[in-house]
Amino acid sequence: MNTSYPFEKPIYITRPLLPDLNEVKKKLQEVWDSQWLTNNGPQHQLFEGKLKEVLKVPCLSLFNNGAIALIVACQSLRLSGDVITTPFTFPATPHVLMWNNIRPIFCDIDPVTMNIDARKIESMITPQTTAILAVHVFGTPCDVVAIQHVADRYGLKVVYDAAHAFGVETGGVAIGTCGDISMFSFHATKLFHTAEGGALTFKDKNLKSRIDLLKNFGIKNEEEVVMPGINGKMNEIQAVMGLILLEYIEEEKKKRKNLLDTYKKCLKGVEGICFCSSAYDNAPGIKSSYQYLVIRIDEKLFGKSRDYVYEEFKKYNIFTRKYFYPLCSDYTCYRQLPSSSSANLPIAHKVVKEVLCVPFYGGLSVGDVERICTILKSFR
Ligand SMILES: Cc1ncc(COP(=O)(O)O)c(C=O)c1O
Repeated sequence: MNTSYPFEKPIYITRPLLPDLNEVKKKLQEVWDSQWLTNNGPQHQLFEGKLKEVLKVPCLSLFNNGAIALIVACQSLRLSGDVITTPFTFPATPHVLMWNNIRPIFCDIDPVTMNIDARKIESMITPQTTAILAVHVFGTPCDVVAIQHVADRYGLKVVYDAAHAFGVETGGVAIGTCGDISMFSFHATKLFHTAEGGALTFKDKNLKSRIDLLKNFGIKNEEEVVMPGINGKMNEIQAVMGLILLEYIEEEKKKRKNLLDTYKKCLKGVEGICFCSSAYDNAPGIKSSYQYLVIRIDEKLFGKSRDYVYEEFKKYNIFTRKYFYPLCSDYTCYRQLPSSSSANLPIAHKVVKEVLCVPFYGGLSVGDVERICTILKSFR
């Protein structure tokens, strides 16, 4: 018997984590009292210090969003020419390269982690290559050791788009300490957010002043502007949001872990459905971001395609996402690049047809997840 029926209210893949409004009002009063709204104010300074501890990184700079942070990361390392990246990511990743007048070179992905395949990077390197821009997709850590190895051999910089990887650890190491620079996004869809916001983390203390100049128009003091910077500054209201939400993260992760266990229990043994990332399993040495819950649907085994499931879910008031479809290499602005050919990216083309992000946020109940799974199983 099919017991599935539509949800009364729409269920989205995520809902922003919102703190107690009274707590926000109290903290905003401090901002009002200070009459300091942006430009490295007291809340910004406090938040930057706290976040450094939470992310276990030696250096950190806050930004107004992740995309601008990543643009500044490329500027600060003076990247140019070609940069090797992944086609299976959010549009911001290759766009940031274009904003730096850099050509993205798309490298195929690993069939399991869905991150850039470190084994294939070397074959993409040319004299024009200056860096690798890798993404910890869905919070699953890249093979950071192999990537560093190839970068060191060819004298390349490594930048990580860690937009999904808040709090992730790999091999017991904080993800924000890998490579030359990592970027975190604090967009409202992220586990930890400041409505809009982001940060760069890095080990080289000398980079801090350059990054902070670049995010403030290159203004050194009242009489000197020393480089063509941009406005990448996080404001005091964003910083307040961040300071408050830092206290909510562990509780939210616990709720998400419970929901993950429920998904796994309900979908266990369903042929053609698998869970994507090892990160969610909290394998030894790995700490998950609990950012997304991602399943892969094998059409042959499940009997229905990912696209069918995505469309059918809507009839039940469930709105999933086909992240990251289409591949960046298929966008009109990139498809003419030689590295965008499908012959170069066979795994990415396979994966992008199978992946589906399903509802996953602390406000969902175990009952909601059980119902979503019942509905999914009814599609077979
Ligand atoms: C992988 C990835 N990179 C970059 C970004 C851009 O971050 P932001 O939205 O904070 O600008 C996102 C956005 O969500 C993302 O998912």
